[in-house]
Amino acid sequence: MISARNITLAYGKRVLFDEVNINFIKGNCYGVIGANGAGKSTFLKILSGEIEPNKGNVEISPGERMAVLKQNQFEFDDCTVLNTVLMGHKRLWDVMHERDAIYAKADFTEEDGMKAGELEGEFGEMGGYEAESNAGSLLSSLGVKEEMHQVLMKNIPSTFKVRVLLAQALFGNPDILLLDEPTNGLDIETIGWLENFLADYENIVLVVSHDRHFLDTICTHVADVDRSKIKTFTGNYTFWYESSQLISRQINDKNKKNEEKRKAV
Ligand SMILES: Nc1ncnc2c1ncn2[C@@H]1O[C@H](COP(=O)(O)OP(=O)(O)OP(=O)(O)O)[C@@H](O)[C@H]1O
Ligand SMILES: [Mg+2]
Repeated sequence: MISARNITLAYGKRVLFDEVNINFIKGNCYGVIGANGAGKSTFLKILSGEIEPNKGNVEISPGERMAVLKQNQFEFDDCTVLNTVLMGHKRLWDVMHERDAIYAKADFTEEDGMKAGELEGEFGEMGGYEAESNAGSLLSSLGVKEEMHQVLMKNIPSTFKVRVLLAQALFGNPDILLLDEPTNGLDIETIGWLENFLADYENIVLVVSHDRHFLDTICTHVADVDRSKIKTFTGNYTFWYESSQLISRQINDKNKKNEEKRKAV
């Protein structure tokens, strides 16, 4: 679970969030919606820790791993495509390098052997032995062909960079997945693949998208960012949209009736 507790954030006089309290639960996919500039991207950045709120905090269940779709296409310029994906699972990446550094030592002690053994164990538990082939097949599913996997990020076109960064976020089955506009730059076929992937995903997904069809296909819930608050609703985007239209019609009708009553008196 990931929870926002009393999150308040203002930029000057503009209050983006005022005491927002919300829980996101395993198995649910939340479509984060709201007007342009409502604060959707900012909220995801607060959850990931990239932005510090003025007040409140974010809590994540112990041991859960969060992955974020990175927005900076140049961050991994000097890494190969495949390594960029592997880096999405930071602990796995660190263990792999710590282990390799020990094996590379000229004076390999008994203590080194013990440490290497421990790291091998942890590496195996995290699915380390299948990591490269899993990363490779994710890339291929997202339309990044095998001949590109060992190329440096700075040497591939930006239409492919967005796919690699998406593979990086999806890699290794994160417990919490934060995606801001993941369909940008994708073709219809890849969007379809991503829809299937997310519709079957069993952990927590928060996704911002302006693509209603995409949201309808994947979301179990809607998180509506509106007037400094965030409210969650069960159901997909269309269900939220129709219910909110119905509610505002009912409020209008009621107001009209009250007005007529007042006039009649
Ligand atoms: N660092 C900042 N300093 C001041 N204002 C900011 C800052 N970052 C964002 N804002 C403002 O906060 C508001 C929310 O921005 P944010 O990007 O989170 O909106 P959004 O809901 O993601 O919008 P969009 O649908 O256009 O992506 C905007 O009015 C934006 O101009
Ligand atoms: Mg945004």
